[in-house]
Amino acid sequence: MANENNEMTVIVGGHGKTGRRVAERLRAMHRPVRVVSPSTPVPFDWSDETTWPPALAGASALYLTYHPDLAIPGAAEHVRRLTRVAVDAGTEKIVLLAGRGEPQVHPAEDAVRDSGAAWTILECAFFMQNFSEGVLAPQDDTIAFPAREVREPFIDCDDIADVAVAALVDDAHAGKTYELTGPRAVTFGEATAELARATGRPLRYVPVSFEQYATGLAEHFTAPVVEFFIDLFRFLLDGHNASVTRDVERVLGRPPRDIRDFARTAAEVLR
Ligand SMILES: NC(=O)c1ccc[n+]([C@@H]2O[C@H](COP(=O)([O-])OP(=O)(O)OC[C@H]3O[C@@H](n4cnc5c(N)ncnc54)[C@H](OP(=O)(O)O)[C@@H]3O)[C@@H](O)[C@H]2O)c1
Repeated sequence: MANENNEMTVIVGGHGKTGRRVAERLRAMHRPVRVVSPSTPVPFDWSDETTWPPALAGASALYLTYHPDLAIPGAAEHVRRLTRVAVDAGTEKIVLLAGRGEPQVHPAEDAVRDSGAAWTILECAFFMQNFSEGVLAPQDDTIAFPAREVREPFIDCDDIADVAVAALVDDAHAGKTYELTGPRAVTFGEATAELARATGRPLRYVPVSFEQYATGLAEHFTAPVVEFFIDLFRFLLDGHNASVTRDVERVLGRPPRDIRDFARTAAEVLR
């Protein structure tokens, strides 16, 4: 059924792992959507504030993802200024993607809570799709990451998108902070084994040191950003995020997808 109020959702970072899925779902519901990023026809760049007002014009709701990471210094100030632009332009609802167990993102979350718009915060575990679309995609059958034997309750980005859409279309989720995890915590080695089984590839997990991992990151990021990510991973990968929550089931009325189910789907692209 077409949206009768002609409300429009702007998806900041709408080509990303969750933004793309949120856009697909809203379009399937015939809800007007505008995806914005540096590469869209109406561009949006976090580092160029002149791009913000045109990108947000007419947005009744926002799905907000930050690049490169919501925990990076300066992100909270950006988010606070952006929410002012959005609310001044008539935005009434903001759903923010955040990391879980990360006090570093709380100032950005507070900026959204203070915005005057209705808000929902999604604090997420590591994405399963990092293995198929992101930093954990296998190179030469190897997944190298400084996670040692830490357990992580990886979450499927399809579940995050389902929760985000619920929050965007149903006012019952306003004022809620959800902690989204998958149904079980596994080590990065166990996650790799699931992908190896599903793809038939001889994939192996190599628990590299933080210093080794920094060398690889330096090919893609400036030195301060590399230092930021290494500090963040040292903090996140100490086991404090190993517990699972039931928030996906509370919102969606069904359990989150298991890493084994994800591996079967991901095998189509990783085989
Ligand atoms: N990955 C995880 O496991 C995880 C877990 C919890 C929370 N998070 C949070 O999720 C967010 C997204 O993380 P991700 O690494 O997974 O990214 P991602 O979903 O792959 O998103 C990348 C998006 O950012 C856009 N982008 C790139 N540069 C930009 C800029 N200067 N200004 C505005 N948009 C820009 C890209 O646009 P183009 O398509 O135009 O290049 C793309 O749409 C981060 O804030 C992170 O803290 C991630």
